[in-house]
Amino acid sequence: MCGIVGYTGPKEAYPIVITGLKRLEYRGYDSTGVALLNSGLKVYKKKGRVSELEETIVGKDLHAHTGIGHTRWATHGEPSDRNAHPHISVSGKLAMIHNGIIENYAQLKKELDNKGYTFSSDTDTEVLLNFIEDIKENNQCDLEEAVRVALKRVTGAYVILLLDSDNPDTIIAARKGSPLVIGVGKGEHFLGSDASPMLEYTKEVVYVNDYELAIVRPDELILKNLGNEKITPFVTRLDMELAEIEKGGYDHFMLKEIFEQPSTIHDCLRGRLDANAGTITMSGIQNNIEHFKNARRIIMVACGTSWHAALLAEYIIEELCRIPVEVEYASEFRYRNPIVNKGDIIVAISQSGETADTLVAIERAKENGAIIFGVVNVVGSSIARISDGGAYTHAGPEIGVASTKAFTGQLAVLIMMALKIAKEKGTISDERYTNLLHELDAVPEKVNTILKSAEDIKKIGLKYKDASDALFLGRGYNFPIALEGALKLKEISYIHAEGYPAAEMKHGPIALVDEKLPVVFIATKDSYHEKIVSNIQEIKARKGKVIAVITEGDEVIPGMADDVFYIPGADEIIAPMLSTIPMQLLSYYVGIAKGVDVDKPRNLAKSVTVE
Ligand code: G6P
Repeated sequence: MCGIVGYTGPKEAYPIVITGLKRLEYRGYDSTGVALLNSGLKVYKKKGRVSELEETIVGKDLHAHTGIGHTRWATHGEPSDRNAHPHISVSGKLAMIHNGIIENYAQLKKELDNKGYTFSSDTDTEVLLNFIEDIKENNQCDLEEAVRVALKRVTGAYVILLLDSDNPDTIIAARKGSPLVIGVGKGEHFLGSDASPMLEYTKEVVYVNDYELAIVRPDELILKNLGNEKITPFVTRLDMELAEIEKGGYDHFMLKEIFEQPSTIHDCLRGRLDANAGTITMSGIQNNIEHFKNARRIIMVACGTSWHAALLAEYIIEELCRIPVEVEYASEFRYRNPIVNKGDIIVAISQSGETADTLVAIERAKENGAIIFGVVNVVGSSIARISDGGAYTHAGPEIGVASTKAFTGQLAVLIMMALKIAKEKGTISDERYTNLLHELDAVPEKVNTILKSAEDIKKIGLKYKDASDALFLGRGYNFPIALEGALKLKEISYIHAEGYPAAEMKHGPIALVDEKLPVVFIATKDSYHEKIVSNIQEIKARKGKVIAVITEGDEVIPGMADDVFYIPGADEIIAPMLSTIPMQLLSYYVGIAKGVDVDKPRNLAKSVTVE
């Protein structure tokens, strides 16, 4: 979490930095700050959003050709003006921004306390900054050397950007565990947590790796490892346009991203799925096909919405490929002592490709000889780079904090994976395979149909917007969608919501049911339909309010439910890609009605690069 931006070159730094910060606010938005280096350091920082900082510094001296900026998601120290980055060293000569956590900061702080240092914030960042300055002064070395020495003592995750008032056009940057991209322009360089701050200036970027340090000047980029050996920067070309990260006429990124799904799913399938030819082309799977065919099990690691995609993949892969699948929360997997053997397949699912827990979980598994397969959205991200093989979801930049189009992209990739492996393994009949290929091919058009009824789900949402709790129930393939529906509502409307397997509801949540409790059933026509009808009866018998997402043509549930929302018919394996759309719309409209900033709901961040 936290977004970082930097610029050094002939242009004015401030407008580039402040625009970049607005694009990176998805990473955290509880305080903002910039440091500009002209004749001396100028630092402006404040609790609150980027726009609030911008308003308060109108008319101030913002002239500089080198600058850095930060948008924060608090870890150490509450959101406040004093804890906002950049931090200034005791001498007043260094300014630093940081994304990550310095885990041994207390120990470093103690050493500095003993030397008489005092601190003006509660952050681990200020400790690291003064630790660097202390080394610089004691060792009589330059800043670059001091950073190198300091980072060898640091445990934790970081991207840091440093300015030194003695070196007016230089930014020193270093990374371990958090993302850092450097954009290479003509006589100028850009730095960012992702490439969005530099999109309109350059398409040439360098992804900095862990334990690398960059010395960045307008016409020079030097990359070194912590052993002071030079590394040749590997320049890659960005495949992203500015329009992709703008709202394009929608009120919110979340709504835009929900409505983009017919085309993002199409983009994900394009070039891979050929329903008429009966083929799925996925080189990441093909290159590892023997491993997949012979796998004794597959372990899936993910967090948040991506974990829900993993859960659905478990049901589908076990059904179609007959391979046991274990689904793990990355944060649990990394800290227990899981049994991972050489040749085990770990599928890491992540929109951002930067989630710290997922990243470390696969690093550990890789050390044990596992094969890592990444299902990632952000091209060039850390998880994509560490994976042995993978498949991008191709959903384009997702800016809204709540994941929508990335989720359906993940489902599309995971279903294609399952179909391809099943076909190669011979665990699926030709007829079912062909049918599912055509079903998948038809998803973008069916999503389009659902989106045309967005107003209907809005009306339903508005009826229940004042509920304090909600229950989401599903069975089989729709159970992960119930979990995802509950998560979306929580994130975006702050209504307490729980997702449950519909039958398991009897073992606890049913105690919550009364005439005020909305219960959302994802009850499409599948092999569980009769069973879920019984569960609906159980809720109605206790006077709960039933909202049901059902298949067109269902004649049973409309007579029982208080509100129904229809989706087009689909095979039960494919239906979750459709039934999740009304869940997204429901939470969006309820969130808007409640006045929530749905793109940046409180306390959340899109890219969770701390554990
Ligand atoms: C955060 C986001 C969620 C996301 C989760 C996992 O909590 O707010 O939308 O599902 O992280 O992120 P990843 O990028 O690994 O999918």
